[in-house]
Amino acid sequence: MKDKQIQKLITKEEKREQSVINLIASENFVSDDVRQALGSVFTNKYAEGYPGRRYYGGNSVVDELEILTQERALKLFKLSSSKWHVNVQALSGSPANIAVYLALLPHDGSGRIMGMQLAHGGHLTHGHSVSASGKFWKQISYGVSEKTERIDFDVLMKIAKKEKPHIIVAGFTAYPRKIEWKKFRAVADAVGAYLMVDMSHIAGLVAGGAHASPFPYADIVTTTTHKTLRGPRGAMIFVKKDVREMYQKIDKAVFPGLQGGPHENAIAGIAVALHESAQPAFKKYAEQPDAH
Ligand SMILES: Cc1ncc(COP(=O)(O)O)c(C=O)c1O
Repeated sequence: MKDKQIQKLITKEEKREQSVINLIASENFVSDDVRQALGSVFTNKYAEGYPGRRYYGGNSVVDELEILTQERALKLFKLSSSKWHVNVQALSGSPANIAVYLALLPHDGSGRIMGMQLAHGGHLTHGHSVSASGKFWKQISYGVSEKTERIDFDVLMKIAKKEKPHIIVAGFTAYPRKIEWKKFRAVADAVGAYLMVDMSHIAGLVAGGAHASPFPYADIVTTTTHKTLRGPRGAMIFVKKDVREMYQKIDKAVFPGLQGGPHENAIAGIAVALHESAQPAFKKYAEQPDAH
């Protein structure tokens, strides 16, 4: 690299990463192939819009890339394209979650998101007041039982029936237990709410079969791609096609609602990571959290 100052910092960071024991659950180490894709010429391209419907010329290769990434994402989680749509353009986990709210909740301050409190393991974007999710919409918060440190679904049902949320968010930043998707579905059904699963932390475990899949129960599944899925920074939003126009609304919330040009180099990196996580070796990796 000609820029010696930055090269020095890259080398320094590489040494730091190699010399510490990292117990940060939201981080991972991507493969050289993922890094090659991230540093590829796809970073040069503007591609506002979606495959076949771009606002710039020259996107035939980008279209191929994005369609292949979508196909790999659906295949990895065993989803049929007739039942599920996936958006791979959200720049990261937080904007992916905000895009869902922007698409599905009222914009007059009456929208209600039922999410886990931050201190009990939820994420800021599950309705916390410092996040846009809690500024434009109201958080109906829930937590874990102080006795069992697990989610008490009787309490959840009571809160939901009283507060009538529009969206219930399941999937957490810090909840080291198996998540009971079916029980969340029952609460959502009882109050007519959408069930949104944010599987950011466990996406790799779901892909590798080490945690039950939320897809049989959720209406929307969001995920970052850089945690257990071992890809570059980015996000995916899976949307069930059975609710009329839901996925089109979410696509529109991502672009043009919140973003301009997608980071196609990151999408190329996501495609590589999706290929890697479909290999038998990834299944073993998902079952052994201490291996990488
Ligand atoms: C459950 C969950 N959702 C969303 C996010 C946000 O992801 P990002 O940092 O990519 O915005 C995180 C980040 O740690 C998370 O834990």
